[in-house]
Amino acid sequence: MRGDGLAGGEGGADRLGELIPAALRGMAAGIAERGGPVPAGGPAAVAAALVAERGELVSEKQGSNPVSHSRPAAAAGNGSLPRRGIGAEAALEELSRLLAAGSADPADPACAAHLHCPPLAVAVAADVVASALNPSMDSWDQAPVASELEREFTAGIARLCYPAAETPDAVVTTGGTESNLLGLLLARERDPGVRPVCGANAHHSVARAAWLLGLPAPVVVPCEGDRLLPDALAEVVTPRSVVVATAGTTNTGALDPLPEIAAVCRRAGARLHVDAAYGGMALCSDALKAKLAGLALADSVALDLHKFGWQPVAAGLFAAREAADLGALTVRAEYLNAGDDTEAGLPDLLGRSIRTSRRPDAFRMAVTVHALGTDGLGALVERCCATAAEVATLVENHPGLRLWGAPELSTVVLRPVVADETGDDELVARVRRALLEAGTAVIGRATLPTGPGGTDQLWLKLTLLHPHTTGDDYGPLLDRIAATAGAELVAGRESPVAS
Ligand SMILES: Cc1ncc(COP(=O)(O)O)c(C=O)c1O
Repeated sequence: MRGDGLAGGEGGADRLGELIPAALRGMAAGIAERGGPVPAGGPAAVAAALVAERGELVSEKQGSNPVSHSRPAAAAGNGSLPRRGIGAEAALEELSRLLAAGSADPADPACAAHLHCPPLAVAVAADVVASALNPSMDSWDQAPVASELEREFTAGIARLCYPAAETPDAVVTTGGTESNLLGLLLARERDPGVRPVCGANAHHSVARAAWLLGLPAPVVVPCEGDRLLPDALAEVVTPRSVVVATAGTTNTGALDPLPEIAAVCRRAGARLHVDAAYGGMALCSDALKAKLAGLALADSVALDLHKFGWQPVAAGLFAAREAADLGALTVRAEYLNAGDDTEAGLPDLLGRSIRTSRRPDAFRMAVTVHALGTDGLGALVERCCATAAEVATLVENHPGLRLWGAPELSTVVLRPVVADETGDDELVARVRRALLEAGTAVIGRATLPTGPGGTDQLWLKLTLLHPHTTGDDYGPLLDRIAATAGAELVAGRESPVAS
């Protein structure tokens, strides 16, 4: 058999049992080969290594010159697809090795740039079953029990966000971007003339959603300490506003003052959507959930379990305080939810998303919550936040680094002191790229209005989503950041054109 066996049906589990070890062998070999958080050398080196590897692999197998073998296109990387396959085990082992060797690996503590989590093994294992059975969530006849499991899970999420609401509901999305789009879409369905209002700290997907929906660009409200200022909001909000607040900003993890913002919205008669894509799962922690006080006052909430939630992408959720609001998504398609089928009692799934075919992403989220409980997930959130607090203390005590502020969640924002001394933001950017190119660390960047007179300044950012790390794992990385900044300063002086 060369790879055309099915994953499901009779014999499917056996075939998967044969193939998964090949994929895992390749993955383990690739991780060992990489030996760091990210392949060294940047995009050109990664592309060149891939072309070279493929040439070698084919020539090894065929004992011929790499340019004259039967897969010249693959070796040359010129974009054509191989006409003849090499079989499932070989393809899986070979490409899994290449993928792992060339990945930015979020399971490595030094891979800390983005809200890019290392997935839990239990979620990945559940995903294998979901993929094999392939329920499609656009009609009940494709997903009888998957749709029921999704309904139970989303009801639980809705209740987590809205403990006291009468009719809360939630749907599965691809992430914060789609959830923010839904937040504005539902507001527009209530009032076609609605105007989005958000903080200067809001995720770019808010402005993009406004653009997609044909709404005016958001009114942008100033922030202090990366938190939206409620008094400034009060000056611009109207009964026709949909306000988007953020619970866990992308740049710093700061949380907007939700109770005050909700009060401003209530007084003005405006709608409120909270982008809690980052911070939302702190609801699972008794120690941290007070940070989200006021969340339940929002009309809708975005949550992402591919951030705090440790799911493979995609694992977004959108909760609405009133289930009726989601009625805006209702649509009829004769082949999926004919009226007579619905009347006969077949659940109508099409109105649960703006997508049609849809993966059962809720399944692995439900398995994960079943395995760990919300307490278990809350404990992982707490660990990441505790690590961030430890790292922040290390930064504060580091002679070569400056801390932006105490972390609210798990983001630590810092700046090399030499950049302050020279006023050189370019140097900050070069530090990040130098570490990436060396393959030693993947760290993020954030522009914040901390310069003279509130001008923008570039900062470095560690977004800590690895729940099994402690501050000790980051001490050497902080030293390296400071040392790289020093080296870049010297390099810049020696070659002023480069700076
Ligand atoms: C606050 C916030 N909202 C929304 C998003 C977009 O989420 P996604 O990438 O899941 O679409 C992000 C991504 O990092 C985010 O930080």
